[in-house]
Amino acid sequence: MPKAVNSLTDFEFNLILNDNLNLINERLSTYTSHKNLPQRSVINAMEYSLSAGGKRIRPVLMLEFYKLFGGKSDIVDIACAIEMIHTFSLIHDDLPCMDNDDFRRGKPSCHKQFDEATALLAGDALSVLPFEIIANQAVSGHISTKTAVVLCAELAEAVGVKGMIGGQVLDLLSETCEASLDQLCSISDLKTGAIIKAACRMGAILADADETALKNASEYAENLGLAFQIKDDILDVCGDEKLLGKPVGSDKKRGKTTFVDLLDISECNALIDSLTEKAVKAIKNYSGSGFLIKLAKTLCQRTH
Ligand code: IPE
Ligand code: IPE
Ligand code: MG
Ligand code: MG
Ligand code: MG
Repeated sequence: MPKAVNSLTDFEFNLILNDNLNLINERLSTYTSHKNLPQRSVINAMEYSLSAGGKRIRPVLMLEFYKLFGGKSDIVDIACAIEMIHTFSLIHDDLPCMDNDDFRRGKPSCHKQFDEATALLAGDALSVLPFEIIANQAVSGHISTKTAVVLCAELAEAVGVKGMIGGQVLDLLSETCEASLDQLCSISDLKTGAIIKAACRMGAILADADETALKNASEYAENLGLAFQIKDDILDVCGDEKLLGKPVGSDKKRGKTTFVDLLDISECNALIDSLTEKAVKAIKNYSGSGFLIKLAKTLCQRTH
């Protein structure tokens, strides 16, 4: 029987994934190479956290949505921008005033390796550099001014009070008053889903995708984002610290309400499966969606 167009073998999937990871990691390193400045300590901290590893899910999603909707140019700088935003969110998330976690991506957290002020400022710098990158893509004529403005608006909203930062505020509140399942889903949509959705939509916008395609990219991202956070909460309870590269039991220690408090593990897994199915359904009719389908399925089985 001929193989369905949208089904990839593990080998094919890993080949595409590794190509993307190489592109992203190589380009990321170019943003922290200017070490002859007196303020180099903060550049070192940015580089430390950016290069510590990480799955690079968000830039990969951007690159693959761009390709799915017909994009043909090099958008790796903008993919790096979304990874910088994510890394900023992780540096701040680990600070003593937030989750107070000492390990991240298999290494001491940024504030442990450097100090709190340096970590705070490295996060700040990584929160604005993405907007400089996007604007400069228009200045150099690589994208249109209109596209740059649309991307900046998309990204700023995803980061701000109606996105990741808003979600982090509600997440901290859940340490003192128990959240319901609906509230937990809303917190996850903001703190985790918003950046994942921006990654997918920005790839689609760069490819000049139409409204229907953008809607389908959003639908995929919303479901994948929620499944991703539920799995993250499971791993905080049942994960292997060595594989995860961050502490296990952090949520319990902070007294946070997470999905595993409101549902048992098998219910969490069933929810992840149904969300993944919905994510897949949103894009499965596009030819060339095999990678994104397999990525969604792989993420719900992940160990880190
Ligand atoms: C961790 O994100 C924080 C969440 C939003 C759950 P990732 O699991 O993508 O972390 P890295 O980038 O691989 O380190
Ligand atoms: C963090 O959620 C979401 C962010 C915006 C960084 P978590 O606090 O659960 O992420 P981890 O488990 O520390 O990676
Ligand atoms: Mg947190
Ligand atoms: Mg945390
Ligand atoms: Mg977590």
